[in-house]
Amino acid sequence: MTALLDIADLSKLYPLRRGLLATLRGGEAPMLRAVDGVSLRLAAGEIVAIVGESGSGKTTTGKLVTLQEQPTSGTIRFEGRDVLGLRGAELKDYRRRVQMIFQNPYEALDPRYTILRTIVEPLEIHGVGTPGERKDVAEAMLAKVDLRPTSRFANRYPADLSGGQLQRVAIARALVLGPKLVIADEPVSMLDVSVRAGVMNLMLSLSAELGLASLYITHDLAVARAMSTRIAVMYLGAVVEEGPTETLVSGAAHPYTRLLVGAVPEHRAGSRRARVRLTGEATSVSSKPTGCRFAPRCPRAQAVCTTSVPAPVRIGEGHWSACHFADEVAVGG
Ligand SMILES: Nc1ncnc2c1ncn2[C@@H]1O[C@H](COP(=O)(O)OP(=O)(O)OP(=O)(O)O)[C@@H](O)[C@H]1O
Ligand code: SF4
Ligand SMILES: [Mg+2]
Repeated sequence: MTALLDIADLSKLYPLRRGLLATLRGGEAPMLRAVDGVSLRLAAGEIVAIVGESGSGKTTTGKLVTLQEQPTSGTIRFEGRDVLGLRGAELKDYRRRVQMIFQNPYEALDPRYTILRTIVEPLEIHGVGTPGERKDVAEAMLAKVDLRPTSRFANRYPADLSGGQLQRVAIARALVLGPKLVIADEPVSMLDVSVRAGVMNLMLSLSAELGLASLYITHDLAVARAMSTRIAVMYLGAVVEEGPTETLVSGAAHPYTRLLVGAVPEHRAGSRRARVRLTGEATSVSSKPTGCRFAPRCPRAQAVCTTSVPAPVRIGEGHWSACHFADEVAVGG
């Protein structure tokens, strides 16, 4: 079966600033490997979470898929077609069918537009319907995201709404064009804790109702667990483990994932395993690594880890880990 989204060996390198001396000395400019050889597939209607700490390349991956950034190398296929080669009407159609929801709804929405106009605008840009039809569709979307009665919200401005309400508007705006795929980049992390579950549940129910696929980006494994059926764990630009959500959480096969699991309070409660703290900072990668990127922080690193890049090891159905000792880690070793 053709995947809805199929990204293969995707990389994005940014030039790193260097000092005057290094510049004068010349040579190849150092690059920050924000995304480094990421491959990921999504089936129609599937929700995959990308989880990893700050700087791991989650947002950059989302920006590459939505073409806000051009990859340095690699391919992106959507319904089997090469996205990077799309032009004109086909490109416009892709932009319609793949939408992004951002972390900060205050920044994502134009403060000068009423809520109704905010949702009507994408329909206008894509020439969908008559003005009357567009207004009806936008009002129906407001109801779908539970901003009811819609007349209470339609003519208000972003400044009049709370963060949770604004994120609902952003969701309505993203979904009004009937996309097949939504990239949700930490959509609840800036919201008040009390309204997070409501927005997460709304996204889950709308995804099921509309048959939407999502790439759900988060630094929080508990959120990833609640929102997805599959998780890809990113560390410094690379996916280090991927698997079905429950399998990955209960049988993590990469030391980094193990540490993330240990940091989830709910999971810690029933665990007899000693709690391990994730220490140190992730230092960005500026040249192709010669060993495991996680080695400087890994509690079980061995000599081989610094000299040989770990290849993905298959653990089970759809579950793999890029660690030299993946099999041992998977059984709790
Ligand atoms: N436009 C850019 N120019 C230079 N470096 C960038 C740019 N965008 C991102 N980076 C760097 O790329 C790396 C990955 O950034 P990215 O924003 O994708 O991480 P993230 O996983 O989304 O982190 P966070 O959880 O903080 O949002 C970081 O080191 C970041 O500083
Ligand atoms: S390859 Fe080595 S350093 Fe990397 S995660 Fe596995 S044990 Fe740790
Ligand atoms: Mg980010």
